[in-house]
Amino acid sequence: MPWLAELQAGEEFNRWISTPPPVAELRTEIEGKLVDIAAGRGHYIVARWAGMPAGYGAAYLTPCRRRAHIEVGVRPDHFHKGIGTAIVDVLIQYKRAAFLERLLAVVDARNKACLTLLRSRGFFEAQPAPRPGLVSLVQDPGN
Ligand SMILES: CC(C)(COP(=O)(O)OP(=O)(O)OC[C@H]1O[C@@H](n2cnc3c(N)ncnc32)[C@H](O)[C@@H]1OP(=O)(O)O)[C@@H](O)C(=O)NCCC(=O)NCCS
Repeated sequence: MPWLAELQAGEEFNRWISTPPPVAELRTEIEGKLVDIAAGRGHYIVARWAGMPAGYGAAYLTPCRRRAHIEVGVRPDHFHKGIGTAIVDVLIQYKRAAFLERLLAVVDARNKACLTLLRSRGFFEAQPAPRPGLVSLVQDPGN
């Protein structure tokens, strides 16, 4: 998925995430994650807008397979159209269909867009962040 590597390499996309590696390395990383998904260790979705990829969502199962870490990303020229929310809603449907206990997310504390989105979908802070500046969120099992 070349578009996905290009999306994840972009400055606007990474504002609250990290300095991305070069696109070629990102492609290798994404391919590795897709191998995991293909092996049944999670779920991956692509959101389309007017037929073109506009964002993605992923849920990676933890080793116990009862929880999943999620990622969500939207093309910056498609922000604020409800695509991120729609992606998270599909990941929540996956959680229910796969009988998972919880979805987990780690977000930069400055990433208001993501925090607002996830809180609107029932995510809350329930465990210590892996390091200062990050927020660790879980989605209530009842949701
Ligand atoms: C976080 C992200 C996925 C949101 O995607 P999006 O499609 O723009 O989000 P939506 O249009 O569904 O908006 C959802 C809600 O988030 C909030 N929101 C969106 N952008 C916001 C911003 N810049 N500041 C504050 N709140 C914001 C709003 O409350 C919005 O609801 P509203 O439209 O009813 O006001 C997107 O900004 C993104 O891809 N960011 C870069 C990657 C990233 O940070 N991913 C998260 C880490 S895994």
